[in-house]
Amino acid sequence: MRILVLNGPNLDILGRRDPAQYGTVTLADLEAIVRAEAAEHGHEVDFRQTNREGELVDWLHEALDDHDAVVINPAAYAHTSVALHDAVEALSVPVVEVHLSNTWKREPFRHVDHVATAATAVIAGAGADGYRLAVAHVAALLRG
Ligand code: DQA
Repeated sequence: MRILVLNGPNLDILGRRDPAQYGTVTLADLEAIVRAEAAEHGHEVDFRQTNREGELVDWLHEALDDHDAVVINPAAYAHTSVALHDAVEALSVPVVEVHLSNTWKREPFRHVDHVATAATAVIAGAGADGYRLAVAHVAALLRG
């Protein structure tokens, strides 16, 4: 089956961005982690990153027909985007939201999460391992 893994704004500069918060892991590292976990379960991965909100919405629409599950780190758009909430809500496949950091321990503006209120599950604060856990979880859901 096919898992769509979406990454939002500023995740392209992971590794050089606020290492105290996000460590030194890069987006390429996350992709490798996700691909390895998906392969363990016999699934394919479509791994993407964009800095544009509308592109994330368009990509989520692809999951209406073309994917069996979604893992998404909406990054800052989690805290602002009703459009992403609506796009996730429109899907019938499982959607697991991931944040590298524990957003609940951070600034109050990160305590609003419009994607979480539509997602199947949320993993925050597990760092890069959160991506692996998200893939393992959707694999379990797809097994039924
Ligand atoms: C993040 C948390 C968000 O609050 C932040 O805007 C990000 C990264 C995370 O993975 O911890 O860009 O999604």
